[in-house]
Amino acid sequence: MKVALTGASGLLGSAFVDALIAGGHAVHAIDRKSIAGQSPHTIAERLDGVDWLLHAAANTNVELCEVEVDACYRDNLILSEQVADAARLAGVPLVYMSSTGVYGCGAITPFAEYDDANPTTHHHRAKLLGEAAVLARSGANLVIRTGWLFGGEPENPKNFVARRIEEARRVRAEGGVMKSNQQQVGCPTFTRDVVSRVLALVDSGHTGIFNCVNTGSASRFEYVSEIVRLSGESVVVKPADAGIFNRRAKVSDNEAAVNWRMTQLGFEPMPRWEHSLATYIASLRGITHPEGGGV
Ligand SMILES: NC(=O)c1ccc[n+]([C@@H]2O[C@H](COP(=O)([O-])OP(=O)(O)OC[C@H]3O[C@@H](n4cnc5c(N)ncnc54)[C@H](OP(=O)(O)O)[C@@H]3O)[C@@H](O)[C@H]2O)c1
Repeated sequence: MKVALTGASGLLGSAFVDALIAGGHAVHAIDRKSIAGQSPHTIAERLDGVDWLLHAAANTNVELCEVEVDACYRDNLILSEQVADAARLAGVPLVYMSSTGVYGCGAITPFAEYDDANPTTHHHRAKLLGEAAVLARSGANLVIRTGWLFGGEPENPKNFVARRIEEARRVRAEGGVMKSNQQQVGCPTFTRDVVSRVLALVDSGHTGIFNCVNTGSASRFEYVSEIVRLSGESVVVKPADAGIFNRRAKVSDNEAAVNWRMTQLGFEPMPRWEHSLATYIASLRGITHPEGGGV
């Protein structure tokens, strides 16, 4: 199988690259230089012989998207339209990575695919419009709404788990406490679990919108507490109200979701987030650190 992908250097894209190569598949990365200023026809020429295309490239800086609004819609909506047009011209099915953040406000229980989407930030509005653009271009396309992703190289500045472990180490050295948002709830989700489930969905020919998150949900506070506990750092994590973090992007307090559609179709539940987080943090312990303690 030959798979093309955008966003191959990102947190999720790199997990797809690793899994596809390990599975003996050919991978064709389409980087930002190959897309910028190119027509869909030109991009389509690069899809010759490709079985499917993963669109994982996105402007994922939710805070900056509130300030640089044009860049937000250009990198999330226009880019997705361009890629979806190219996929349609080449006759290649597209898998579009989206977010459970598109559900926005409107419910206090985890969202299922039949719930309305009411995004509360420019980033999530752009992702939702990107979904619509992708689905309008071909009935063969798949949209994946995933959760708070963890995984990948600890050096990646966007690695939430590695950054929290660093923070815990720093705070311990300073004798302080960590604070984490107790209001916002979501589904911590391992990139490797998403990759294997997306490959299964593609393999079985499913199309349309799917939530794809690890089982269970947590507040940021519960998530960070579990990261700290599993990393073995003896630091107190205290629950805090959202207000103290002074965020520009008013992300909904509820980004939690369930894989309702997959459940109806008879797919096995995805692993619980605590289980996958433990697996991931155990894998980080094998990585040499200047202090000799893992990440
Ligand atoms: N991370 C999360 O927690 C999360 C949660 C829900 C959904 N998602 C979705 O999952 C997907 C992957 O996210 P991620 O966390 O892997 O993102 P990431 O680590 O921030 O990586 C973003 C990728 O997109 C590329 N990119 C950004 N702007 C581009 C542009 N204008 N043209 C071409 N390529 C561009 C980047 O390339 P460069 O290396 O050149 O910058 C990079 O490869 C995204 O669709 C995101 O919305 C992520």
